[in-house]
Amino acid sequence: MRAWLTAVLLSCAAFQTAAQEFTTLKGHGGPIMGIAVSPSGQVATASFDNSVGLWAGRDPQWLEAHDAAVTAVVFGPDAAVISAGDDFTVRLWRDGAQSLLGQHTAKVTSLAVSPDGAWVVSGSWDGTVRFWPLRGQGDALQVKAPGKGVNAVAFDAAGTQLFVGTNAGDLWRYDLSGTTEPMPVVRHGFGINEIVTGDGWIAYGAVDGGTRVIDMAGAQIADFTLDRRPILSMVYHQGSDQIAVGDGEGYIMIVDTQRWRITRDFRATRQGPVWALAFSPDGTVIHAGGLDDVAYAWPVETLDSFDATMGQERSFLRDPATMPNGERQFMRKCSICHALTSGPSRKAGPTLHGVFGRAAGAVQDYKYSPILTGSDIIWNEDTIDALFDEGPDHYIPGSKMPMQVIAKPDDRADLIAFLKQATQ
Ligand code: HEC
Repeated sequence: MRAWLTAVLLSCAAFQTAAQEFTTLKGHGGPIMGIAVSPSGQVATASFDNSVGLWAGRDPQWLEAHDAAVTAVVFGPDAAVISAGDDFTVRLWRDGAQSLLGQHTAKVTSLAVSPDGAWVVSGSWDGTVRFWPLRGQGDALQVKAPGKGVNAVAFDAAGTQLFVGTNAGDLWRYDLSGTTEPMPVVRHGFGINEIVTGDGWIAYGAVDGGTRVIDMAGAQIADFTLDRRPILSMVYHQGSDQIAVGDGEGYIMIVDTQRWRITRDFRATRQGPVWALAFSPDGTVIHAGGLDDVAYAWPVETLDSFDATMGQERSFLRDPATMPNGERQFMRKCSICHALTSGPSRKAGPTLHGVFGRAAGAVQDYKYSPILTGSDIIWNEDTIDALFDEGPDHYIPGSKMPMQVIAKPDDRADLIAFLKQATQ
């Protein structure tokens, strides 16, 4: 809390802004997919740039070990941080050291720490839910896999039940004190992306925009479904009786869990998703992340008085119709991971500045995979064309660059023409 307050006070002093304390955390090199706040108010951000930012005031410590986008982050006991993501791994950061807790066989979408702090549970698109011990070396619990890609995991307050949402649209319950067979709670029919639980209720958000609250038997308590989809983030703050819900259209909705009413509906960004949400320890501030490489925080009380701030500076959100095709190709398909300027970048891929005529794997201080450092490719029109004609998975197999092809020769030619002038 103190770190956060300091940041607020500093920002007010520095910019002499109006009384509204709207704050940002800047430094990531890619979109922000997860946020967590510790009981003491420390903020952790998980990013597409493969790192976790651990913020003390405005100076982050970068936690770097993931090989792909980090999509989930939670705090464990004793200020431990647990992160997971598209590299299939679950990692623990404690006292300045990093360790690999475990590994799935597909991307990890969700993490939850048991209320007693003994376990962290991870859900993955490999269709399994795994328990990793946070204290000592205890044996991992085994539960029968729900079998379908897991998007969401959440404990109840007592830690005796685990709820799991799948992309097949089912919400399962595991009774952790008894059998570990999953029991169906609800069949929603569309992928369940988020779950939070409170006293006697479960709230979930789904791909079709479904935003519902049910009791433990699956009977409906409230339905907050609006015509916005998908629901991408959901958090519950017990002390202030509120749920925050973020969606693909840029809104943050606040629901009062005493009266089951929408109390605020805030357009956080004009375009793009709200992927990450977290309340401050006292519930008065909501932190949010999305396509920007900046995490935002607003006071809940005055949310509605703010303009849609997120997404303003992102060039790839400019109206694509106004761009020539080559630039549009770059903005849509590359800019999220590659800078065009020289100098340090926190994006997931190396800067493309000066790439023409350069040997593969040559950007100083960028940690390439061996396929690139050991390669004799020289990047030019032909090799970059081949890279996206065949796709990185064929042209440079084993590389960290995700599989993608640009099927149309004209699009590749336009992209390369744009890159030639933009990377000089
Ligand atoms: C999701 C992130 C991501 C996207 C999107 C992406 N790249 Fe990459 N790219 C990477 C990463 C990571 C590497 C480094 C790969 C490695 O070390 O295995 C890389 C490497 C490269 C390299 C080799 C650079 C060098 O110094 O050897 C080129 C060229 C490249 N990308 C071009 C592009 C272009 C053009 C696009 C858009 C069509 C694109 N990339 C889209 C992540 C991305």
